[in-house]
Amino acid sequence: NVPIAELLTRPAILIGRSETARNPAIPLPCDLYQPQRLNSRGIEFGDRAALAELLGEIETARRPLPTIAAATPAQVGAAITAARGGFESWSLTPVDHRAAILERAGDLLEQRRAAFVALLQDEGGKTLDDCVAEVREAIDYCRYYASEGRQLFGEPLALPGPTGERNTLGLRGRGVFVAISPWNFPLAIFLGQVTAALIAGNAVVAKPAEQTPVIADLAVRLLHEAGVPRTALHLVQGDGSIGATLVEQPDVAGVVFTGSTEVARTINRTLAAKDGPIVPLIAETGGINAMIVDATALPEQVADDVIASAFRSAGQRCSALRLLCVQADVADRVIAMIAGAARELRIGDPRDPATHVGPVIDAEAKARLDAHIAAMTRAARLHFAGTAPASGNFVAPHVFELSRASQLTEEVFGPILHVVRYKATQFDNLLGDIAGTGYALTLGVQSRIDDTIARVIARLPTGNIYVNRNIVGAVVGVQPFGGSGLSGTGPKAGGPHYLPRFALEQMVSINT
Ligand code: NAD
Ligand code: ALA
Repeated sequence: NVPIAELLTRPAILIGRSETARNPAIPLPCDLYQPQRLNSRGIEFGDRAALAELLGEIETARRPLPTIAAATPAQVGAAITAARGGFESWSLTPVDHRAAILERAGDLLEQRRAAFVALLQDEGGKTLDDCVAEVREAIDYCRYYASEGRQLFGEPLALPGPTGERNTLGLRGRGVFVAISPWNFPLAIFLGQVTAALIAGNAVVAKPAEQTPVIADLAVRLLHEAGVPRTALHLVQGDGSIGATLVEQPDVAGVVFTGSTEVARTINRTLAAKDGPIVPLIAETGGINAMIVDATALPEQVADDVIASAFRSAGQRCSALRLLCVQADVADRVIAMIAGAARELRIGDPRDPATHVGPVIDAEAKARLDAHIAAMTRAARLHFAGTAPASGNFVAPHVFELSRASQLTEEVFGPILHVVRYKATQFDNLLGDIAGTGYALTLGVQSRIDDTIARVIARLPTGNIYVNRNIVGAVVGVQPFGGSGLSGTGPKAGGPHYLPRFALEQMVSINT
């Protein structure tokens, strides 16, 4: 543990674009602190007093991690039955009341920000800027879904027309929604799923990732404290086998899942094989995300944005950059700048605010990534290998050059960047290779030519396209997030079409 006084003497520019850009139409005033400057390099803690205050709060709030027991299959069944019992009264609770509860949850999160930051560091291994951004995102979800919910689930929509009757279209909860979430955003994605299902009038049984049970436990306690009835929200802990048992239960009216494509497919198959009602699945999965850099791009900006996109969060974002495609004319210069910038990254203890790259989630993830690095070292050209602490689950940033984009066949969930060169005459083939991965989550384009940008947007169905900036850190309400194909079913989290998918439509026609 580095003393705060010492930390304050260090430069404190944290990489990554801040998630604080706000839609003025949405009330999201979660001031975790007031950064002086926000740009593509991230959050600069120019206000050292505010940083000191935050760090002090975090240290005061830090607690040893408790042990959390996994649920038994019998408890999974009991949670679904109890949620079924709680559904009716929650779905009949006026939406204004449901929304007020979510807003209260957002306020409580803001008040307890330091406890959640400490927990995200200790259980999730996340760096300070990632933790701050994640707590903000979680608050944003509570407030955004409350605000959207009020509009969608209040009075039914009147549909005047030629029939002479009074026709209305309303939305109502489906029943018991199962919410299964990953470890990489253990607070924001967990709460995003749960609050979306709740505001739509569903009862919820949530299963967080087995790597991050404590954060989910605290988040559910906070929602109960904010006013969500205990009968309407249940938490079951455990690994994938508990998730599978949950999905198999009768009385599941919908499933929202965020995680790997492979598990999404398994859940889809289970739901399809079940007797009874057809159960919808909302799945948000991974990506082989690319960034295309042509000869007109600004190399300094490219280097900055690549570092943030590929190495921030130790590359453990579904949105992270995996495949950098650089026009051959500028490739040597761009790769050299990226390697130079990567050399500056500090890898280590996530509790140290000067750390840029923390550990990966566990020893299994480290072993998988180390194996990939070993395979790439044999099959590709190594441009950069960082140095990581010898003990702990650290994986240093690496940059490999491939001869073809198609050499990268699966999502590599860590700080490993793959680069390919393309000639201007091969541009259409390159777009074909990117489309050919089957994933369509995030994509970057770095170019000063409008026609190139328009061609890429027209050709690729990628869910989130970012031009001349990094490709991570979508902001709730203004940059709805999610992909298609192998990257998920849609609709986009934090966007205007998300909540209706958690609800049933009901038309009522009254002969007046
Ligand atoms: P994972 O698929 O291994 O696990 C996700 C969740 O599913 C966990 O809670 C796990 O216990 C549960 N699970 C595992 N097997 C299950 C089964 N058979 N039935 C039901 N539930 C089961 O994913 P992960 O390793 O936790 O997270 C990393 C993955 O998540 C990456 O692929 C990443 O791209 C993806 N991700 C996507 C988004 C997005 O919004 N598109 C966001 C974050 C992460
Ligand atoms: N929503 C997260 C991002 O945009 C995953 O990086």
